[in-house]
Amino acid sequence: MTETVTVFEVGPRDGLQNEAVPIPTAAKIELVDALSACGFTHIEVSSFVSPKWVPQLADAADVFAGITPKHGVVYAALTPNQRGYDAARAAGVSNVAVFAAASEAFSQKNINCSIAESLERFKPIMAAAETDGVRVRGYVSVVTDCPYSGAVSPDAVADVAERLHVMGCEQISLGETLGRARPESVDAMLQAVLERVPAEVLAGHFHDTDGHAIANIEVALTHGLRTFDAAVGGLGGCPYAPGASGNVASERVVDHLHGLGYQTGIDLAALQAVGTQAKALRSGA
Ligand code: HMG
Ligand code: MG
Repeated sequence: MTETVTVFEVGPRDGLQNEAVPIPTAAKIELVDALSACGFTHIEVSSFVSPKWVPQLADAADVFAGITPKHGVVYAALTPNQRGYDAARAAGVSNVAVFAAASEAFSQKNINCSIAESLERFKPIMAAAETDGVRVRGYVSVVTDCPYSGAVSPDAVADVAERLHVMGCEQISLGETLGRARPESVDAMLQAVLERVPAEVLAGHFHDTDGHAIANIEVALTHGLRTFDAAVGGLGGCPYAPGASGNVASERVVDHLHGLGYQTGIDLAALQAVGTQAKALRSGA
């Protein structure tokens, strides 16, 4: 039987969050609906974060209100704190993600608190989510290199990943935020994480600044990971990771996985058309 790999589309969130030109809410809604039509089962739609920090995603509630949910598709949002969680719930969101980092410097720049403080902030979210039947994903950023403090130790990544797992996150996405990691560093990082968290609950989240993302996905596949985040058109970057470019393009990941004999359930031709549309959004065309 052909093995399935899940491609988790994060373009509407990770792809658009860094765009300087305001993108109309209607265009974001159209993008999410077009991605639903391509066959994705998981789409990260937006973030309920401070509009002062990430102005582009200030319309998260309106985007959720405008999309046409397709049966069986998970529509997720980032929620950094209780306030974000409450706003997401008010917008009808039932899949959220908390996000931590493996370096103190990145944690401070990204969410204005230490790693330990961030994990404390997540606890009430986890408790509320359990009561509400909401599923929570956890991210660990800067899993190999931090733009502010350099190389990150695999044990530091394993520690945060394990804490998120124990806390109740159903999946831990390992963020290679800078997109500069070589497969050897990803291999070393995964070896450490896999001693503490099983492959079934891990996802790979590779930015592609230096063009190693596909090779990094291959390494993660050999370690048993079967979920990979990607952004249509290769859009994006993190506002708090200067110089980092977008996530690996979803259409490249899908094409590569199909070539390796995996099934994804995604219509590649339809996705390539949406990729062209998404890149035009970025250039304001
Ligand atoms: P803070 O300033 O420490 O928080 O921000 P605060 O509680 O002191 O609040 C400050 C202001 O923000 C207040 O407003 C709050 O009301 C407001 P003011 O009084 O100044 O007018 N506020 C909020 N507003 C809306 N929604 C909220 C919220 N919380 C507070 N949820 C905070 C802390 C985390 C909110 C802030 O640092 C923030 O929003 N950061 C943005 C982080 C972000 O979105 N980063 C990009 C996503 S992560 C990423 O891209 C990495 C990833 O892709 C994986 C990878 O590649 O590695 C996931
Ligand atoms: Mg990212």
